[in-house]
Amino acid sequence: MAGTRSPEDEYTAAPFVPEGADLGALREAAAGCHGCPLHRDTTQTVFGAGDPDARVVLVGEQPGDQEDRQGKPFVGPAGKVLDRALDEAGIDPDETYITNAVKHFKFTHVPERGKRRIHKPPSLRELSACGPWLAAELELIEPEVVVALGATAGKALLGSSFRVTKQRGTRLEGDPSGPARGALIVPTIHPSAVLRADDREAVYEGLVADLRVAAEALG
Ligand code: URA
Repeated sequence: MAGTRSPEDEYTAAPFVPEGADLGALREAAAGCHGCPLHRDTTQTVFGAGDPDARVVLVGEQPGDQEDRQGKPFVGPAGKVLDRALDEAGIDPDETYITNAVKHFKFTHVPERGKRRIHKPPSLRELSACGPWLAAELELIEPEVVVALGATAGKALLGSSFRVTKQRGTRLEGDPSGPARGALIVPTIHPSAVLRADDREAVYEGLVADLRVAAEALG
């Protein structure tokens, strides 16, 4: 059921998430989500994409500039790194479903970079507001393994005490009342960390090693 919210309301996507919907209907409804203010400055909602029968779901942080323009997750540089790493770890990217913890691009402008939109991390409030979309996607797909790509995805799946440096590359059980209940969660770094690193090769190898943990869990 489409919802409306007043500025005084708590941020939440919940009233916009239709009950009993399939993934297509969820995607359509998410296009009109006004559950938090992030939709105001973006081009569009970027919903999850990929195999609806996937055994593994990958969860990123939020769409970037290119994803916002194209309306699809991980179509920019981080997505290219991720596809290569998945392949190398033995996971076929075409057999995955990929989504983000937050479905709108959050950005800022800095004077020295002109019109360029600079990524800004979502707040915990925005992250939790968007949680009902991620929960609805995971409930429909029922994956065996969920890979959390970076700290924000880890917090969305495992709670705010999640620390990527401590927990990456391990197999964790989702809270029974959390969005990934029933699935094994394997956290790793966000693929964009590879692009920012001084030693790209070493950071990339770490990403592949963590993804191998997910591949092994799939058997
Ligand atoms: N980074 C993310 O976390 N998600 C995307 O879709 C693109 C970049």
